[in-house]
Amino acid sequence: MFHFMNCTKIIAGEGTIQYLPAEAQKLSIQRLLIVTDSFFAESKVVAELIDQLKKVEIETFLFTKVVPNPRDIDCELGAEYANEKGVQGIVAIGGGSAMDEAKAIAAIAANGGTCRIWDNVPLHKKMLPTICIPTTVGTGSEVTFVSVITDTKRHFKMSLFDENNLVPSLAILDPILTKTLPEITLASTAIDALTHAVEAYTSIKSQPFSDALAMYAVGEIYLNLPLVTESENLENRSRLMYASTMAGAAFINSNVGAVHALSETVGAIYDIPHGIANSIFLGDIMEYNLDSCYEKYAELAVRMVPSIITMPRKEQAHQSIELIKKLIKKMNIPKLKDFSQVRVEDFDAIAQEAVNNELSLDNPKRMTKAAYKEVLEKAYAYDE
Ligand SMILES: NC(=O)c1ccc[n+]([C@@H]2O[C@H](COP(=O)([O-])OP(=O)(O)OC[C@H]3O[C@@H](n4cnc5c(N)ncnc54)[C@H](O)[C@@H]3O)[C@@H](O)[C@H]2O)c1
Ligand SMILES: [Fe+2]
Repeated sequence: MFHFMNCTKIIAGEGTIQYLPAEAQKLSIQRLLIVTDSFFAESKVVAELIDQLKKVEIETFLFTKVVPNPRDIDCELGAEYANEKGVQGIVAIGGGSAMDEAKAIAAIAANGGTCRIWDNVPLHKKMLPTICIPTTVGTGSEVTFVSVITDTKRHFKMSLFDENNLVPSLAILDPILTKTLPEITLASTAIDALTHAVEAYTSIKSQPFSDALAMYAVGEIYLNLPLVTESENLENRSRLMYASTMAGAAFINSNVGAVHALSETVGAIYDIPHGIANSIFLGDIMEYNLDSCYEKYAELAVRMVPSIITMPRKEQAHQSIELIKKLIKKMNIPKLKDFSQVRVEDFDAIAQEAVNNELSLDNPKRMTKAAYKEVLEKAYAYDE
């Protein structure tokens, strides 16, 4: 038995951010909290949006305490602010950090409590109506019913998760918003999406509906990411963005695995951006999983480079890892050693925490502390 859920309305296309006022009206929102990070807080995009919302008599309030790897204390402050202003809905403009923070604010504003109280505990009530407008091409948070928040006291990532009460009402996918992304952020968030797709497709909980989205997303990301970084073409950018949302819808139904277990741990301890952490570990974990995934990896290789179809299956499977490693290398994403805060002495504890992370349970091959440690050491020793 399996079930598949996606209850978020999606509006997609160039310039679709203009539909926000009308959509907020449809959700009966008259007072709206905008949650965004420091980049967009200063931007024309948000200023223009506030003007447009004013024209339809929607009063807006701005909350901009959003940092990469969003923090519990900020979500709790945001919820207090939302209730103080009596808002009826929230819009997030930004990457996974702004969207996850907005979802946590919306959940706490409606349910009370703190992030820690709702860590992996079903909410009592639906969160406030939430509209997500992603500006990166990675997390898929705009269609997922999870919010990943850093516990600032215990230095790990908590998950608010509720398939009924933490579902964004609307996702607006406007590729134009990603044009200001620095190249490394574009590439690393796209590799986050690729990781969602690969891990969803190979998870022990994989199922036909998420498989279809995941397989399609792998092909689209592989094809379009290099083209987006090489040209101004909006077509490739749009396809990359839609693939990241599809990968989100896939993994929220069949889960991610060891790459995320490790990247969440490393992200919380060293504050390494999520997409970069995934880019560091994806290739080596795929290699570790290979003997449990021959057929599936072979299928993904053909999605990425259709001419590979003539190769023997086993060779195709190896190729899928090579293609992904080469893509990541080409994107010049930072390596583990580039982060001065990383200490080899921590690897033992990190490996233990990654094994304890529930995401390890759905990995296609059993993860052990020794296996994680080996991956960490390999990633640290990485040499061009
Ligand atoms: N809820 C989920 O389903 C889910 C899934 C995967 C990851 N996550 C979480 O999402 C977070 C990561 O999100 P992310 O990778 O999208 O990055 P992010 O939201 O942290 O943004 C990264 C950086 O890019 C900047 N930025 C974002 N959009 C920009 C734009 N268009 N132009 C210029 N700068 C821009 C931000 O200001 C920030 O400095 C992590 O905390 C991770 O745990 C959530
Ligand atoms: Fe992710």
